[in-house]
Amino acid sequence: MILFTHHNEWSKLLESYVSNRGSVGYVPTMGALHDGHASLIERAAQENEICVMSIFVNPTQFNEESDLVAYPKTLTEDLIIAENAGCDFVFAPQAESFYNGRIESTSVDYGTLTSSLEGAHRPGHFDGVATVVRMLLNAINPHRAYFGEKDFQQLAIIREMVKREQIPTKIVGCDLIRDKDGLALSSRNVRLSPKGRQNALAISQTLFQLQPKVEHSDPKLLSNWGMRHLEQQPGIEMEYFSIVDAETLAPATSWNRPTRALVACWVEGVRLIDNIALS
Ligand code: PAF
Repeated sequence: MILFTHHNEWSKLLESYVSNRGSVGYVPTMGALHDGHASLIERAAQENEICVMSIFVNPTQFNEESDLVAYPKTLTEDLIIAENAGCDFVFAPQAESFYNGRIESTSVDYGTLTSSLEGAHRPGHFDGVATVVRMLLNAINPHRAYFGEKDFQQLAIIREMVKREQIPTKIVGCDLIRDKDGLALSSRNVRLSPKGRQNALAISQTLFQLQPKVEHSDPKLLSNWGMRHLEQQPGIEMEYFSIVDAETLAPATSWNRPTRALVACWVEGVRLIDNIALS
């Protein structure tokens, strides 16, 4: 596995290692890798001639400086996980040089897709995500890029951006990966104490309880139920609980279209998100 830190190095590396017809699969990450990232790398490696990943804690997508500082940085361990999962190249740039000295984002407005849910609670977050993903796709120019459904809204926005800007990369959405006890894997989970982690299980347990209720309730009522149920659980501070149309992310009005429940809440000062498909 080869590590490189400047995007200018990529075209030379590509020339030396990839045949003309070979495809490049790309996994963008912010490091602190877990099994969810490993599954993206494994899939990218299986479906392409080579697999490249990036490890870059993007400063422009953090709302709070303290969250950026607290974000786990574990490059040595990450490189081992990446190599074991079949990664060939790791791009790990420095912010100053990658952003060419101007660490700022350009705004994206795709209506409800960018303004709802995470967009409403984390102003500027998706501006930072769209900016860095655009820059990364531009730098790596992969045939396919792999994103987890854990960040469901992020995935929808990236699909929309790639479509609107005609970026020649196929965006591949991959299943959210859970721990055995149901907790959605996240780089932030390491910041939870054992008790906090136990409390956090209420998130996925609430989501799992929705499915059997779908037949007997409408999306709005079920959304209200989820919000009320979860806010009563110990150690949980709610941000939102919403059942939305899986394509537009507008509040769902029927079960006849694909729907998804999305949740964001805080446990011990750690912001956690999760989601589940309902119809
Ligand atoms: O999902 C993430 O880890 C980040 O938002 C991404 C896509 C790597 C952009 O910084």
